[in-house]
Amino acid sequence: MTSRHSLLIVDPDPSFLADVTPTLGVEGFAVRGASDLLTARRLVDERMPDAVVVEQRLADGLGIDFVRELRARTDAPVIVMTAMFPDTRAVVEAVREGALDVLEKPVFAERLAGVLLPAVEEARTRGDAPRESAPPSDLSRPPIIGDAGAIAAVREQITRVAATPSTTVLIQGESGTGKELVARAVHFDGRRAKRPFMAINCAALNENILEAELFGYEKGSFTGANTNGKQGLLEAADGGSVFLDEIGEMSPGLQAKVLRFLQDSTFKRVGGVKDIRVDVRIIAATNRELWDDVRRGTFRKDLFFRLNVMPIRVPALRERRGDVKALAEHFLRRFAVDLRKSVTGFSLDALRMLESHDWPGNVRELRNTCEYAVIVCDGGLVEPRHLALPETRDALSMTASETAPNVAAPSGAALALRDRSIKSVEEDLIRLVLNETKFNITRASRELGINRSTLYAKMKAYGLETAEPLEAAQTA
Ligand SMILES: Nc1ncnc2c1ncn2[C@@H]1O[C@H](COP(=O)(O)OP(=O)(O)OP(=O)(O)O)[C@@H](O)[C@H]1O
Ligand SMILES: [Mg+2]
Repeated sequence: MTSRHSLLIVDPDPSFLADVTPTLGVEGFAVRGASDLLTARRLVDERMPDAVVVEQRLADGLGIDFVRELRARTDAPVIVMTAMFPDTRAVVEAVREGALDVLEKPVFAERLAGVLLPAVEEARTRGDAPRESAPPSDLSRPPIIGDAGAIAAVREQITRVAATPSTTVLIQGESGTGKELVARAVHFDGRRAKRPFMAINCAALNENILEAELFGYEKGSFTGANTNGKQGLLEAADGGSVFLDEIGEMSPGLQAKVLRFLQDSTFKRVGGVKDIRVDVRIIAATNRELWDDVRRGTFRKDLFFRLNVMPIRVPALRERRGDVKALAEHFLRRFAVDLRKSVTGFSLDALRMLESHDWPGNVRELRNTCEYAVIVCDGGLVEPRHLALPETRDALSMTASETAPNVAAPSGAALALRDRSIKSVEEDLIRLVLNETKFNITRASRELGINRSTLYAKMKAYGLETAEPLEAAQTA
């Protein structure tokens, strides 16, 4: 066998990997395994596999979410494995997200090879650019849309800071403004582009797990720790960048360790004695006013100054309304293609509405609004009734009260929702918020406006529960 196909298998059960690897090896696959999404993402960032097999239920998320992430970056075939008797909605969703197939467990190596081989061969003959040499940049670094003055300044700063590969960058801005996008641009526009970009969300993990993820650990350093110890993100990203998202949420103890790393580029693994030196650029982001936290005493002043060497402030969308049109059209085109709908643009009224909305959720809110509009619009132009904005609702209730209630036309949003039970809408909403907050229960319950125990109960009822991050990372 001359050419080997790289295959990534994401499954929490190590015996599954052990069972299928020999046969898959004979069939020409070089297998890498991951027990959770965090590890899987890291392996993908290291090198894009030719094919992926992912279990639907993982400690830190759903297989489907991984399918969605992969689809944004590669054509590689992806198979989702589910428990026996999967729920049909999950299957439909997986295929809609672009999974090649959904296989019920038990899944045997021969079956995997049978499904994957033709797909991999086809992807290969379709042969885009030569795989290994293709720069990851165009996929990992989506374009930054907009040219209003405020965002032009950000773009200029990105160019400047990309050229100085060791400078620490602090990106501040409201939620949904595009901080992660900027972070990726800083990495992928500079000379570190060919090395890993690794992101970690400081709000999503508790202190111990975050420390172990970031710095790695030595064997036996805590119960449940992998017997061989484990590399942390800093080591894995050597030569590249580590993106510390929501750094404002980091505990004081970890702040001190990060500060030390920023001062002399060395750190110790958890439970380790040896100083490890790596060449990594730290890019940090926060939607908090970090300086306020410094004054309040919850964020270290010395770390703040160390991070703030090259600050980039991403403006709120309402401060650059001139970009709304270009952004909206960009998202509309993208979702129309993804959802295979012939939606061509916005009516003048719809556009006016978008341009006058305040966008408290910034670009992310605009993106979601556009996705929703494409879903509920049957084709042609998006009209105000397709926009799920508070203004639309107000306008509609006005119309409704001015005319007889039974002739008032419900909005597209209302129509789309009418056929669904409150429960199914609630389930989707909870799933959405959980995914957006990466299963951060505190943040998710805050965003949903319910308390944590209610959220837990609902997650259980809908089968959305995932292990606590604690368990997630310890099994990693
Ligand atoms: N200028 C832009 N052009 C195109 N897409 C954008 C732009 N800004 C943001 N987006 C998109 O909007 C969404 C939110 O952006 P991103 O995740 O980078 O925001 P964020 O500031 O990190 O948000 P949070 O604080 O909630 O983590 C993403 O889908 C991103 O691709
Ligand atoms: Mg972010």
